[in-house]
This record gives sequence, C-alpha cells and structure tokens, in this order.
Amino acid sequence: MENPAARPFAAARPTAPLIGSLAVPGDKSISHRALMFGALAIGETRIQGLLEGEDVLRTAAAMRALGAIVTPDGPGAWRVAGRGVGGLAEPSDVLDMGNSGTAARLLAGMLASHDLFAVMTGDASLRRRPMRRVTDPLTACGARFDGRADGTLPLAIHGARDPLPIEYRVPVPSAQVKSALLLCGLNAPGFTRIEEPEATRDHSENMLRHFGADVAVEQVGQGRIITLRGQPHLRAADVVVPGDPSSAAFPIVAALLVPGSRLRIEGLGLNRLRTGLFDTLREMGASLVVENARTEGGELVGDLVATAGPLRGIDVPPGRAPSMIDEYPILAVAASCAAGITRMRGLKELRVKESDRFSATAALLTANGVRVDVEGDDLLVHGTGHPPEGGGLVRTHMDHRLAMSALVLGLASRSPVRVDDASFIDTSFPGFVSLMNGLIGNGATPALLAS
Ligand code: S3P
Repeated sequence: MENPAARPFAAARPTAPLIGSLAVPGDKSISHRALMFGALAIGETRIQGLLEGEDVLRTAAAMRALGAIVTPDGPGAWRVAGRGVGGLAEPSDVLDMGNSGTAARLLAGMLASHDLFAVMTGDASLRRRPMRRVTDPLTACGARFDGRADGTLPLAIHGARDPLPIEYRVPVPSAQVKSALLLCGLNAPGFTRIEEPEATRDHSENMLRHFGADVAVEQVGQGRIITLRGQPHLRAADVVVPGDPSSAAFPIVAALLVPGSRLRIEGLGLNRLRTGLFDTLREMGASLVVENARTEGGELVGDLVATAGPLRGIDVPPGRAPSMIDEYPILAVAASCAAGITRMRGLKELRVKESDRFSATAALLTANGVRVDVEGDDLLVHGTGHPPEGGGLVRTHMDHRLAMSALVLGLASRSPVRVDDASFIDTSFPGFVSLMNGLIGNGATPALLAS
C-alpha cells in the first residue's frame, strides 16, 4: 500500500433508490483559478462556493506564500487581497502542491514571468507526472527550470527578469498547458498567442475577462487561437464557483445505475467544454434533463435531473476526450452496466493523470468480473445489460476519481466492491461518502462503509 494513512472502504448495493436534491462541491478548475487570478489582481476578490478540497487548499497556501492575503470567511467563502500583475513575492520555503497537477502546472506559469526563485514539489503521484509540457514552452519567456533528468518535480524555478511574450502551438489538448502560458503572459509586454488543436476547458479565458484582461479567442476548425494582451491591470472581481460537473458525475452515474433512483443536482457548472460525459450518457440512453440554465460570472450553470434507466453501449469518438477527460473511469463504470460494447477511443492522455488511469480503469473493471479489451489507445468495455459481478478489491493508486468510480460500481454490482484507499477522495470531493449515504432512502443502511 502506497499511503501509510490509507482509508480502505467498501460499497454495497443499496437497499433503496437514491432520491433527492443535492449540490456538489465547487468546481476544482475554477477554484484554483479564482485564487490565482485573485492573487494577481489589485483589490479584494470575494469567492463563494470555493472547493475546500486538499488540491485547492494547496493553491491557497501557495498564494499566501507568494504574498497574497488569503482569508477563509465561512464555508466556501474566501477573500483574496491580491498583489497586482508582476507583484508576487519570492517564497521563503518550498511550495508543496500535494496531489494537484493543475496547481503545479498553473503555478509554474505564474512564477516563470516573475523575477524570483522558487522550488516546487508534490506528493508521490504528482512527482511522477510530466512537467516538461509546461516547462519547455515556458523557457521561451526567459525562465529557467532546474530539476531531475526526466523533468518531474521537484523543480527549481528561476523566473525571468524581463519576461517575453510567448507564441506556442500546444501539441496535446491541455487546458493546464494553455493556462500556464496565459498566466505567464500576464506579466510579459505585448501579446501572448496560444494555438490549441482541439478546444479545451476555457475557464482561464472566461475568468481573465471577468478580471478585466483583454483576451481574444478565434475558432479555427476544432481548435482555437487565444491572444492575450500582456500587463493588464487586473481588478479584483467577485467569483461564484459553480458545482463541479466532474464531481457530479459520480452521484449522477450512481442514480442512472441504481433502479428507481432520481437525483437533482443544483447549481451545476455546464460549460460546454466540460459536459462531454453528459452528452455521451444521453447517447447511451440516459435520462439527463437540464433545468434553470443561466449564466453566472461568465459560466453556464443549471440544475441537472438524472433518472435511472437502461443504458446501451456506444462508440465514443476521440474528439470527445477534451470535454470529459476526467470522466472516463466513471463512464467505464456506466458502460459495464450497459447492454453491449462501449468503445472509448483515443485515451492516451489518461496515462498521465493522478495515476495511469487507462490501465487502472481496466484493472478496476476486470477485478469485478467485467470483460475489458485494450486496443492501442482505445478501451473497450463489454457490458451485459445486467449488474456486474463485483466482489473485487480495487487499487486506487493515490487517485481520487478511481476511488469514487470503484465505490459507484459497488452500488450497482451483485457483491460489494472494496477500495484499498479512499483518503484521496478529499482532494476533490470532501464529504463524498456521507453525501452518497445520505441520498439513500429512509431507513436503509449506508451503502458506503469503512472496511
Ligand atoms: C484541468 C485540465 C485537465 C484535467 C484536470 C484539470 C484544468 O488536465 O484533467 O483535472 O483545470 O485545467 P489537462 O490540461 O492535463 O488535460
């Protein structure tokens, strides 16, 4: 076992359907960005609905270490008094980004265009993840990165004294790389120009505009060219963080799979570049209905009602990946209960997430009696239209989304599913276990239990 504080858990088929209304914790991507842009703005940014998971708390601590005043005011309510673009102070200690790839990569971008020295590290999972995808292009602004031969953390960062704007075509679809370059470009004169071959989540672009920056986005085929005018005066702005669609995915799939269930998720982020899972589940026959759609702080928000029903296997095209990159493990769980084969194409990027999610998702299903085939970068799940056997012990590899996916599988399987470690769930979805247990009808025993 990799984590000495591992929390083993088990999930069993509930004796009653999942019924009710709920809100999921704030969006992780937007929460990181609200703290970072708040730290670079002049004035006091007030945030509501901030995700208080481990990953985002690492970003809050890093912003403090760089001189911003970051104050929690009550559940989800935070204030950030910023330093202004170019105003970050040199940190006096190592910045530890824990399990969070987003925090590490975006921070590398911020630091690259500040004349300071910083050292960044992370936990065993983050120290295995590729950083060159950000450090290689960031050197073009004049920053220097010293570290291990394979470019992984820990990294010593020498920010540029006179940062230059960067023009770069991002080779893999990655919102983290795009956002790191935009954050770097904030403190460079002239225009930073980033081309992405496929559109990825655009929370940075939306939030930059919300804080007063000049950002132009041009659609080119499937991709985009984003141009940022450097050295803007970012003004503090209030941010309301919507519920995270990547977190909502777990109760939603549970509701689709447990017969008789109906859940309403309120105040959910529905940005089109994040909702590929919902489109895919609808193609599989799921009943997912949006109500009260509205725009808040530049982001589309609404309520989503999920009702249990049969699913069928489908072909998921590779172009869907950027809009649901974090949702493949839970989609694979849904596919294991669908009738027929689901082929998920083009999943190469899954190999470099919090764990090798490609192999770990296949192992999660195989351990529970589901037939899986791997063909190159495609994962094929053979659903039978009936509950999977279950009964397996799933290794979660310090990966929150694998742990939650395995527990949802346990709610739909014939025998309980166990996970070796549920502690990493707190990185993105604190309160997941009690929230899920609370959705199960009156008098029913909790379905998720420490094992
Ligand atoms: C994120 C982008 C995605 C995603 C991650 C959050 C972001 O990563 O997997 O959970 O907030 O920008 P990539 O940019 O590596 O695809």
